[in-house]
Amino acid sequence: MKAIIRENYGNSSILQLKETERPEPAQGQVLIRVLASGVNKADLHLLTGKPFPIRLMAGLIRPKYKILGADVCGIVERIGPGGTQFKPGMEVYGDLSASGFGSFAEFAIANEKALNMKPSGIGYKEAASTPMAAITALQGLRDHGKLKTGEKVLVIGAAGGVGSFAIQMAEVLGAQVSAVCGTSSVSTLQKMGVPQVFDYQQKDITSIDQRFDLIFDTAGKYPLSKIRKLLEPGGRYISSVFSPSALLTGLWFSSISDNAFGGFLAKTNQADLQYLGKLLEEGKLKPLIHKTYTLDDVPEALSDLSKGRITGKLVITI
Ligand SMILES: NC(=O)c1ccc[n+]([C@@H]2O[C@H](COP(=O)([O-])OP(=O)(O)OC[C@H]3O[C@@H](n4cnc5c(N)ncnc54)[C@H](OP(=O)(O)O)[C@@H]3O)[C@@H](O)[C@H]2O)c1
Repeated sequence: MKAIIRENYGNSSILQLKETERPEPAQGQVLIRVLASGVNKADLHLLTGKPFPIRLMAGLIRPKYKILGADVCGIVERIGPGGTQFKPGMEVYGDLSASGFGSFAEFAIANEKALNMKPSGIGYKEAASTPMAAITALQGLRDHGKLKTGEKVLVIGAAGGVGSFAIQMAEVLGAQVSAVCGTSSVSTLQKMGVPQVFDYQQKDITSIDQRFDLIFDTAGKYPLSKIRKLLEPGGRYISSVFSPSALLTGLWFSSISDNAFGGFLAKTNQADLQYLGKLLEEGKLKPLIHKTYTLDDVPEALSDLSKGRITGKLVITI
């Protein structure tokens, strides 16, 4: 099969399109013929080995995962021993980050538990763009941010992969949504119906004269000492960005105020994939696809993601 392969940590120039052996599904796994894969910041972290703590799970000196790609949509090709949930020919989507990654290839292995049936009525690209970012948005707002109906939420990084799902998910959860994004994304977010959009390139966000019940931060660019002034009494701040220093500062501010500060690691599960699938089928969640690439253009896609200024998600079609 064809796959985008790397042997070391580095930038997108080390990625190569190569022929490699098709993997075999083990117990509890399926082999998927990949039709589309989504591109995530996680792919960049794994490619570069940065921030350094990622190497504790991904290989200290040499990378464990040679083929990147977490989000996948495709057709079940073969079932591993004892598999009962899926059958060859079924259209599925999911997140391979707990299955060893590998969706930047013609075939990939997935744990059954990280898959669900592809939502009907939406395209492969849309399905592939969804799992990791939308589950992060869902779990960040609902489980860790404890967002309630009628509350005011500020989504920072609202045009990014996670953010573009978070502004829609917050609406589904019944919140009043405000968004922070860069200049090039403002009009798209306004057209999507986001009631209030702040342009971080035109305005110092930390000086907004408003208070929010929840701040969901997917950019991690503002010191907590400043951003905490935007919280209502009892308000929460939750970040998807890995930052040991922000975590420590958050613990400190949580202990000296009535606000709560925290981070989290999203975990894909079938119940959440099913919930997202329903929202996609009902049109309540609409993936925002910035650009589509072919498999041999994966290096360009990752290079583009590293440069930013993307509104929504990048997708690979195989
Ligand atoms: N915890 C988890 O389980 C989990 C899961 C998925 C992702 N993540 C992490 O969550 C973060 C977001 O992921 P993503 O896929 O959404 O990345 P992304 O697509 O790059 O989104 C980040 C967004 O932040 C915006 N931004 C940059 N500087 C900003 C500022 N000063 N103020 C406001 N917004 C700013 C960027 O806009 P511009 O491009 O215009 O600068 C971009 O739209 C990453 O750090 C990723 O590693 C964590």
